[in-house]
Amino acid sequence: MIVLGIETSCDETAAALVEETGDPGRPWRLRSSVVASQVAIHREWGGVVPELSARQHIRDICGVVERALADGGGAGYDAVAVTHGPGLIGSLLVGVSFAKSLAWSRSVPLIPVHHLAGHIESLVLGAGEMPLPAVVLIVSGGHTSLYLVKVPGSSELLGRTRDDAAGEAYDKVAKLLGLGYPGGPVIDRLAAEGDDRAVSFPKTRLTHADRNAPNLPGRRDFSFSGLKTSVLRHVTARREALGLDDHGPLPEREVRDICASFQRVVVEVLLDRLFEAARFCGARSVGIAGGVSANSRLRAQARARGDARELPVYIPDLALSTDNAAMIAAAGLRRYRAGVTAGWDLNADAGLKL
Ligand code: KG4
Ligand code: ZN
Repeated sequence: MIVLGIETSCDETAAALVEETGDPGRPWRLRSSVVASQVAIHREWGGVVPELSARQHIRDICGVVERALADGGGAGYDAVAVTHGPGLIGSLLVGVSFAKSLAWSRSVPLIPVHHLAGHIESLVLGAGEMPLPAVVLIVSGGHTSLYLVKVPGSSELLGRTRDDAAGEAYDKVAKLLGLGYPGGPVIDRLAAEGDDRAVSFPKTRLTHADRNAPNLPGRRDFSFSGLKTSVLRHVTARREALGLDDHGPLPEREVRDICASFQRVVVEVLLDRLFEAARFCGARSVGIAGGVSANSRLRAQARARGDARELPVYIPDLALSTDNAAMIAAAGLRRYRAGVTAGWDLNADAGLKL
């Protein structure tokens, strides 16, 4: 069976073909994956503009799907899987409407996929089934959440951010430093040349339960808004000390040190929670997916901590860690095999729960 995956939840229009292998240890094989990024459009505005995103998906989707089908060697597809949430509503609607029309006109099943289930499946697509139970950290521009996976294809929420996602913190700090959008890659690059102990930023520890979700224990939640504010305070104080105006660029060496110090805290907070949760849950492996998993320090330190604990660490290649449709097709195959398909009344849901 081959599934065509379609993903339009944020600023990437993506389509991909994924095939079942019949090998239970390594169930999915990627046949093609095409991603049209809108970063160049949103960069001008310093972040994703939902209306522009939806309009660009409409322009790109036909070409992206055609290209994914052509790259797949003309094998066709037996079902269409689509991200129906969470994400930007106008953007999601483009993918959902397109997928519905395609599946209906070809008389093939339509499979609804949660965006984060796709990110979790990207780990299996990249490296085969994980030893279970596994604890998975999904860390992107929109999400920072920890999940416990006991059975393939299922997940339990262990903790999530109370405010900003880690990628959002990267983007906001980059904006503050005048480094442009998206912030992750540029901060990652500059941090490599900076002193990660130059500035002492706080690591937020949440020990109390969240008033909005009292049933979740607080100690596995994340919070990045305090860190972001302390970077803001530091930068403002330094600008004042140097007699610069509100947007005046700080000396390059200082910017590199701020990036390195900020990144050290983000990575430590993410990995502390991930490995604490893994120990608590008796996990046999851990995984990291989502755009921020492209971060070089996060990848290196996750592997080092995993080695020290003899715990396998799953992190997909960069092409599978940022938003793509291959993960949606793979998660769709998993759901289809579990008996899930959607009716023609499938709708996009911006706040869809996993
Ligand atoms: O998963 P993704 O492509 O889209 C969302 O669903 O959000 O993640 C995008 C996020 C952005 O916030 C970007 O700044 C961040 O991932 N990112 C990084 C790196 N590359 C991308 N963050 C830290 N280090 C990186 N190397
Ligand atoms: Zn994502």
